[in-house]
Amino acid sequence: MIALITGITGQDGSYLAEFLLDRGYEVHGVVRRSSVEKYDRISHLRDRVTLHQADLLDQLSLIRVLERVEPREVYNLAAQSFVPTSWDQPLLTGEFTALGVTRMLEAIRAVDPAIRFYQASSSEMFGKVRETPQNEDTPFYPRSPYGVAKVYGHFITVNYRESYDLFATSGILFNHESPRRGREFVTRKVSWEAARIHGGLVDRLSIGNLRAERDWGFAGDYVEAMWLMLQAETPEDYVIGTGVTNSVQRLIEIAFDEIGRDWREHVEQDPALLRPAEVERLCADPSKAKRQLGWEPRMSFEEMIRLMVRTDIERIDAGAG
Ligand code: NAP
Ligand code: GDD
Repeated sequence: MIALITGITGQDGSYLAEFLLDRGYEVHGVVRRSSVEKYDRISHLRDRVTLHQADLLDQLSLIRVLERVEPREVYNLAAQSFVPTSWDQPLLTGEFTALGVTRMLEAIRAVDPAIRFYQASSSEMFGKVRETPQNEDTPFYPRSPYGVAKVYGHFITVNYRESYDLFATSGILFNHESPRRGREFVTRKVSWEAARIHGGLVDRLSIGNLRAERDWGFAGDYVEAMWLMLQAETPEDYVIGTGVTNSVQRLIEIAFDEIGRDWREHVEQDPALLRPAEVERLCADPSKAKRQLGWEPRMSFEEMIRLMVRTDIERIDAGAG
């Protein structure tokens, strides 16, 4: 079995590569050219995966990588994935996160229409939610250029499945985190800064909207759902989440409890971190994935946040930060 992962250097790409290698796959990854290599998340896998330079902005590079690798499965995880950046760089976000999906689908049509395709869609598409909890039939109302771009990526995947009979699936994943999460996202920002406060390196944590609520799960659990979607008999779309919602404040309470401090003495709200339009509350109804794929999340929110804090403390003790 041969799989190609775009975004292999990202959080999900690294967990998915591990998951597929454990199942005996030959794993290939797309990396974009950079003046310095940033392969930290996959450094432990470097001799087990094959990396290819290509870019979601460059159609021919995607065609060539498919011709070279001849994959049976393509996981399209690459994107500009940070919501605030999408207001600063809305056009680039559209190019990567929206049109990039069409480029990959066109490459599949040109090279091998039998390839099974997974698109990394997002709960950010639900935005200003139309109903709670959100399932596969809930209408979208995105609240950021990123969310709008993901809606395009979702519907072009559905459209190519219906137009060209491709095995193209869209996983509507709710927020998922891990010790490998980028430090700009709120869970990792909090775990990292709590670890630095614990180590006496800093004393304050600036935060935006404390009341925002998310359905947060563990990335290691969610990559299994991606794989299961491509093993199904028919290509369908699935909501993946836990069904449990927590607030940013609750996240902070857990992280500071892990370091034995009172969060109120360290956390300050910074209005500059508020978003032009906010997604206030997301909550998944993952019952279709449970019923049809047999998928269930394993790690709880609290377990995950405590693990993230402990891992960051170890990193700081080892000299990071
Ligand atoms: P991430 O850590 O930000 O990783 C994004 C990856 O995309 C990186 O490997 C990045 O490469 C790559 N990339 C960006 N632009 C590219 C381009 N033009 N060409 C080739 N590669 C490019 O994101 P993640 O958390 O793993 O998320 C994976 C996917 O799931 C994303 O599409 C994200 O939008 C989506 N998603 C994530 C969540 C979540 O909670 N994590 C939830 C729903 C959906 P560099 O290393 O070179 O930057
Ligand atoms: N990043 C960040 N930093 N977020 C903060 C902060 C802060 O200092 N303070 C409060 N928040 C709030 C944000 O306003 C948002 O409501 C919530 O915390 C989560 O923010 P992020 O962790 O940045 O994630 P996100 O929900 O915007 O987007 C992530 O999840 C999406 C799935 O719903 C990303 O991974 C997206 O790529 C993904 O699609």
